[in-house]
Amino acid sequence: MKYLLVLGREAKISLAELESLFGSQQVAVLSEQLATVEAPRLSLDRLGGSIKAARILDQKPADFLATLPPGKITLGFSDYSPHATPASTWALALKHKNLLKRHGRNVRLIPNQKTAALSSATAHHNQLGEKLNHLEIIKYRNLYATSIGSQNITAYAKRDQARPARDAFVGMLPPKLAQILINLATAGQKSGLVLDPFCGTGVVLQEAALMGYAVYGSDLADKMIDYSRRNLEWLATQSYFHTKSQSPAVQLEVGDATKHHWRPIPNYIASEIYLGQPLSSPPSSIKLKELQQSTKTLLFAFLRNIGQQIPHGTTLALAIPAWKRPDGSYQGLDILDEIKNLGYNAKKYRYASFSELLYYRENQIVARQIIVLRKK
Ligand SMILES: C[S@@+](CC[C@H](N)C(=O)[O-])C[C@H]1O[C@@H](n2cnc3c(N)ncnc32)[C@H](O)[C@@H]1O
Repeated sequence: MKYLLVLGREAKISLAELESLFGSQQVAVLSEQLATVEAPRLSLDRLGGSIKAARILDQKPADFLATLPPGKITLGFSDYSPHATPASTWALALKHKNLLKRHGRNVRLIPNQKTAALSSATAHHNQLGEKLNHLEIIKYRNLYATSIGSQNITAYAKRDQARPARDAFVGMLPPKLAQILINLATAGQKSGLVLDPFCGTGVVLQEAALMGYAVYGSDLADKMIDYSRRNLEWLATQSYFHTKSQSPAVQLEVGDATKHHWRPIPNYIASEIYLGQPLSSPPSSIKLKELQQSTKTLLFAFLRNIGQQIPHGTTLALAIPAWKRPDGSYQGLDILDEIKNLGYNAKKYRYASFSELLYYRENQIVARQIIVLRKK
């Protein structure tokens, strides 16, 4: 099956996630925002980096729409072609509505007032692609696809905000970035033990449990282990896990990641390491050097320690800090050579270079750089 994916804001990270899950050969880039994936099946709920998924049509949209089962049709059009405008998309939508009406079908069109493509929020709120006869036709040049769903913002917000133990200082890892880290580490393997050795309030553990992995968290601070425990206990009571036997297998313990011995040995490591103090303005050059040095010391001590415990081939997907410079660029750690000497290879992606895997919001001083390492 060939799918069309609309990539999230950090498109390079989204592409790395797709490459990791489906293999580079199965992924093709159409534009800055769009990619295709050849895969037997695809579940958007498991993807942190893509905001819409659609099945590519091998027929004209009008012919496809003519095959819909009886009943009212809710229809949206999104055109991601270079010169598409809200007006051109609306004209396309009206044309198809009229064709359907001529066949006696009752159609409600979802208006796309400001942009040529519906936002993923609009598509999700109207359940386009998620419910019978609720459709979003996505166009890119001559290619048409029918949506199978849009990012479930409501579910992400709930998982993020309804957790009983939150800590504004550490617990801000967005659930979708946690999913990305897990996908980069597991490369689509469906089971096994995911370790987060800097687990904080447990966002990575929570997302890994939801994706069906057994989870193992450790953290220097016992307060954080308590937070993770409360959050995972809360999660187990949620409707995602219907029976006790489906509840996540969880192990939590206090431990310094630079010294700790983890038992059992995890299959994958996905973690956001300590990002240092939050900053409200770009650090001076001297301060930046200090921040880089202390992060590097922690990261390398952790990598040395865990490197003695995990087998060859184990993958680690880590979020580490990068800092905003006065010119607006971000500066992370220059560590590729040293990482090799520590016994790791940095994973290479076809569509994203090492320095492009950056995750940040506008005005954020401390960004997250994603590094994916494989134990040699
Ligand atoms: C950025 S936070 C991780 C937040 C986490 N992703 C969450 O969902 O809440 C980093 C965590 O690393 C922990 N930490 C700092 N130094 C550590 C060390 N040497 N070993 C283990 N954990 C450490 C801190 O207590 C903090 O909880």
